[in-house]
Amino acid sequence: MGKNVKKAFICAILSLVLLSGCGIGYGEEKEEPVTEAENEDLIVVGFSQVGAESDWRKANTESMVKTFTRDKGYELILEDAQQKQQNQITAIRTFIQREVDYIVLAPVTEDGWDTVLTEAKDAGIPVIIVDRMVNVSDPELFKCWVGSDFELEGRKACEWLRAYCESKEIAPEEVNIVDIQGTAGASSQIGRTKGLKDAVRANGWNLLEEAAGEYTQAKGREATSRLLRKYDNINVVYCENDNEAFGAIEAIEAAGRRVGNNIAAGQIMVMSFDGVSDQAIDYAKSGKISCIGECNPLHGPRVEKIIQNLQQGVTPDKYEYVDEDIFSGDSTVTSIEVDDEVYTIKILGK
Ligand code: AHR
Repeated sequence: MGKNVKKAFICAILSLVLLSGCGIGYGEEKEEPVTEAENEDLIVVGFSQVGAESDWRKANTESMVKTFTRDKGYELILEDAQQKQQNQITAIRTFIQREVDYIVLAPVTEDGWDTVLTEAKDAGIPVIIVDRMVNVSDPELFKCWVGSDFELEGRKACEWLRAYCESKEIAPEEVNIVDIQGTAGASSQIGRTKGLKDAVRANGWNLLEEAAGEYTQAKGREATSRLLRKYDNINVVYCENDNEAFGAIEAIEAAGRRVGNNIAAGQIMVMSFDGVSDQAIDYAKSGKISCIGECNPLHGPRVEKIIQNLQQGVTPDKYEYVDEDIFSGDSTVTSIEVDDEVYTIKILGK
């Protein structure tokens, strides 16, 4: 019997018992407690969110909260793990104890999920992974995943840089990059870093250093300040998200340098990912951020569709990649090609 059907059945029996006035044994005192969700027959979704480290993350949480409302028949239990995997593991165990209908996990890193996801599987609770991926020994430990192709995001951004440098006649050996990385071990960090490293190798650019930025503005600023003191020839700061880029821009300006596309004139180019906040879009329009690889955070409706399919016995695709754009305020490069696929650059008007 499905869990919801079972719940409805239990509720019906309890209602009948209460209505008939003959409680089990000694009446009211012995009644089983019925949770609100059971009373209303809501679908209970336990969502373990990474944290609130970036504008992207906040938009992602908001998308889930706006989607899984009581009006639409859901109870959402949201747990913010504050970037700690152990907190996510604890949250999942709590969801299992509470016998939620679905567990949605936005994992902080890829590794370390086998044990707790086996517990969820043993409890018969379907797990849906969003955003970053999990690296597990048995793919049956989760129903499906929905998120971005992070490596493609990185490759597209680097192809934009290659095309830009080519059209401005900037020689590859003059391109000196630092990489402000996202949370180490997160799929988005792994993919965007790989996209860059492959392009560095293919194009003959210099990758001066990779530094931890942890997807936050504070770390982005701290890392960029340190790198600017260490190297005097940085001309591209590849930030693995917009918040790091905001910090990098602060650091560049505080060091008395100028941010912008004109590398030949001594400006430092800032590149980033997400394109979620107004500030990021405004910076792209003004040229403070030269290029943004879009990362779409609006997964709430996508997860809801998966849950509705599962409710109806329809097996969702195991992996669902979201289509994403690439933005720039500069019209030098209008399209790029990656793996025989042409992507039009979305030029943001001033
Ligand atoms: O995993 C997606 C990344 O996580 C986003 O690019 C970043 O902003 C967030 O914190």
